[in-house]
Amino acid sequence: MENFAMEIITKTPEETKALGEKLGKALKENDVVALSGELGAGKTTFIKGLAAGLKVRDFVSSPSFIIVNEYSGRTPFYHMDLYRLEGEEDIEDIAVTEYFNRGGVVAIEWAEKLKVLLPDRFIAVTIELLDGSRRKITLKETGTDRLKNMTFRGVS
Ligand SMILES: Nc1ncnc2c1ncn2[C@@H]1O[C@H](COP(=O)(O)OP(=O)(O)OP(=O)(O)O)[C@@H](O)[C@H]1O
Ligand SMILES: [Mg+2]
Repeated sequence: MENFAMEIITKTPEETKALGEKLGKALKENDVVALSGELGAGKTTFIKGLAAGLKVRDFVSSPSFIIVNEYSGRTPFYHMDLYRLEGEEDIEDIAVTEYFNRGGVVAIEWAEKLKVLLPDRFIAVTIELLDGSRRKITLKETGTDRLKNMTFRGVS
């Protein structure tokens, strides 16, 4: 399957959340969304929207000491924040890869820490800080066709 990418500029947290929600609506079971971007870029904000698009009712921003939060929505939803993980041993300890192919959707903050452990098919979301509250959000899929089937009217 072809890889597909797009770039969107958002000007407010609400726009970032709305973009996340559009993607959330297009996701299917076993999809993995890998987010990267510096502290405060808007990864959790985007994931709040993703959760809404998956009809998760009680999303909470990830607490500092819990690495995986599990929710039920249209599919199970697993939110991981790998910020505190240090070495590869840590990553093996929390068995991140066991959440893949369990029938849910997985969203991972600081996904670059996974390196080779990322699955073959995933959607990468990279958020860059621009001036003020603007963010450049790059969506790129490898091995799936969720983005291609989305329309972005009303966002950006
Ligand atoms: N266009 C925008 N998109 C997203 N967030 C924005 C935007 N403009 C301002 N913000 C603000 O930036 C902050 C983003 O915080 P958020 O927790 O989503 O970032 P994060 O990438 O998850 O950070 P961390 O690495 O600490 O987990 C929020 O305070 C949000 O209100
Ligand atoms: Mg966060």
